[in-house]
Amino acid sequence: MDALRTPHLLTVSDLTPGEMEGIFRTADSFLDLSSRTVKKVPSLRGKTVVNLFYEPSTRTRTSFEIAAKRLSADVINITTSQSSVVKGESLLDTVRTIEALGADGVVIRHPASGVPEWISRRVGCHVINAGDGLHEHPTQALLDLFTIQKRKGRLKGLRVAIVGDILHSRVARSNIRAMSLMGISVRLVGPPTLIPKDRGDWNAEVFHDLREGISDCDVVMALRLQLERATANYIPSLKEYAKFYGISPSVLQSARPDVLVLHPGPINRGIEIQDEEGFREHSGILDQVHFGVGIRMAVLYLLMAGGNKGEGNA
Ligand code: CP
Repeated sequence: MDALRTPHLLTVSDLTPGEMEGIFRTADSFLDLSSRTVKKVPSLRGKTVVNLFYEPSTRTRTSFEIAAKRLSADVINITTSQSSVVKGESLLDTVRTIEALGADGVVIRHPASGVPEWISRRVGCHVINAGDGLHEHPTQALLDLFTIQKRKGRLKGLRVAIVGDILHSRVARSNIRAMSLMGISVRLVGPPTLIPKDRGDWNAEVFHDLREGISDCDVVMALRLQLERATANYIPSLKEYAKFYGISPSVLQSARPDVLVLHPGPINRGIEIQDEEGFREHSGILDQVHFGVGIRMAVLYLLMAGGNKGEGNA
């Protein structure tokens, strides 16, 4: 078993390259299950996983649920709009209540950066970050890299262009860190207003011209324009953004002939992705969803199967 040193998964920085490779190996072994009649193994029998989502989600929440159920864990989904959160219960009281009910792991999505880490220091169960504010979405980066590895056969030495709203994207932040760790060369492509000025230790080239930015790239990862975070105020118009930064069959002619196109979803169709049918054989977007189940099974298993509890201060 490729054990993880960390009791929680809060950021990709919690993982070494070797641990990421271990997650990919474990995910691979679990993916075989999806083609079997009985899609279950008993690895987490007797454990309880709680999905606590303070923001909407389709892919992440359902794939964590499917992953936990395939490992035979009991799964509870808490949608905050139908919980005591609407009566004013605090985040800490909510999580401590979940822990007292016997949860072994909490998968949390929250609009504020740093909340999963804050919780992990206060509870005694495993905490997995399913997306926090503008900070990170580590399992998304893991499934993105796993998809690239499955489709391209390797990671090291590839060139990836991440296109669009980098400024508001926790997916981009996790991917830039994870890709750099795994020896991928990263380019950031977008309008100046959507690329952070302070890029800290990011090892990434910046391009404002889409065709130039994706030229000779092995992978193009389009990001969602996060309209709920008022991203539309950062661009002249959606029409103009789509014209200059939309991924279409004609734009992809500037990339490598075998380019792989990814998008974390949900997609604003006609804006960041245009005419996917026209580049169907290059699209890995549904592969990302499929491989996400294997990655989340691997993460749950490697964190929770060993019997070690989280190491908070509760
Ligand atoms: N990629 C992603 O996080 O999608 P959801 O918001 O549907 O979970």
